[in-house]
Amino acid sequence: MKDYRKILEENNQGSLLRFIDKLDESKKENLIKQVEEIDFEQVNKLYETSNIEIDKAIKGVIIEHVPFVDKYKMEESKYNHLEELGSNVIKEGKYAVVTMAGGQGTRLGHKGPKGSFLLNVKPKEKYLFQIIAENLEKENEKHEIVLPWYIMTSTENNKKTVEFFEEHNFFGYPKENVYFFNQGNLPLLSEEGKLLIDENYNIKLASDGNGSIYKSMKKEGILDDMKKRGIEWIFIGAVDNALLNMCDPILLGLTIDEGNEIGSKSVVKANPHERVGVFCKKDSRPAVIEYTELPESMAEETDEDGELLFGESHIMCNLYSLKAIEKIAGQNLPYHSAYKKASYIDENGNLVEATEPNSYKYEAFIFDGFNYFDNISILRGRREEDFAPIKNKEGVDSPETAIKLYNDYWKL
Ligand code: UTP
Repeated sequence: MKDYRKILEENNQGSLLRFIDKLDESKKENLIKQVEEIDFEQVNKLYETSNIEIDKAIKGVIIEHVPFVDKYKMEESKYNHLEELGSNVIKEGKYAVVTMAGGQGTRLGHKGPKGSFLLNVKPKEKYLFQIIAENLEKENEKHEIVLPWYIMTSTENNKKTVEFFEEHNFFGYPKENVYFFNQGNLPLLSEEGKLLIDENYNIKLASDGNGSIYKSMKKEGILDDMKKRGIEWIFIGAVDNALLNMCDPILLGLTIDEGNEIGSKSVVKANPHERVGVFCKKDSRPAVIEYTELPESMAEETDEDGELLFGESHIMCNLYSLKAIEKIAGQNLPYHSAYKKASYIDENGNLVEATEPNSYKYEAFIFDGFNYFDNISILRGRREEDFAPIKNKEGVDSPETAIKLYNDYWKL
């Protein structure tokens, strides 16, 4: 057994040691076990990067425009060719869909997994998971197949998610083709870099961002399962887009046709300053630059046709070859820190409720995986067909805006 006292002292976590010393045996044992599982080298490194300012993060990086193809501005013959190419792969059973549902949905503030949020669409309200299930069922009918559907949950919401599906009989989706897997966790750290303890006397952990998906698919045996089934192409999308098109044969056809291993659907920014990440090349490699990182002058820059040079929004509608996911899974994606509110138990056992941000959360971003490829196929779709995000309680990207987009798209 490793000496937990030594580990904590060496890693500047003396306060946790004092806390542990005051606990009864069973709580003590539980916490020690958790301490022993923590990779302190990683935690210390994360803490060091917590305060890196944005301009430092992109300093010296060359940011360039990345080309895209407009789905509705290509020759009909090309469109038909891509459609056939993509449809064939789907029909041959070489295509699978993954839904990322491990987020905390803090902005929306819904209790429970975000996929269990009820959207008041016409003619009858639907849960977000239900919308996805129904769309996949339509694809199954169209292509005469059953798409394997993998759902990434967090350790925090896994049980509730599985129960939710069971309660609703998987919304009619063939149950034996739905698989749940967990993403990873990382500890939250206080401003001083200390581990935090929650109300149940556990080290406070949080899901480590949607970029965790690549390693999690490998670790949880999802990639092996896909291989066994002969899956070659994998779509990964978010749980919170009511118009997410998970099976666009044009995106798949384009990616294959361009000889790429990754592809992504974009929609053009609503205005130069919309708060979305956009596609670009960073040091010659495909990337997404966050709106907070994109200098104002670049956000407004246009080409000779008046199109924004950095106008293709990343809408979490991503496509990968199986090999591409394996490749990214073997890399260590960078973690980004966010300064957030977290309640915790202090050294004296009292609950401290946070009213202001007081801790760092670390997340890997799915789009950082693009960086390991020379090129990406980007297909510009249409907002009214592809993008109805549910992020905020009200206002922009809220249930209200998503309901309107959904009803308009389905002509309800
Ligand atoms: P967001 O980054 O918008 O996060 O997730 P969120 O959890 O939905 O909402 P906020 O930021 O807390 O308000 C985009 C997609 O990535 C998934 C989400 O479930 C959503 O589908 N995600 C996010 C994960 O699967 N795991 C994570 O750790 C974070």
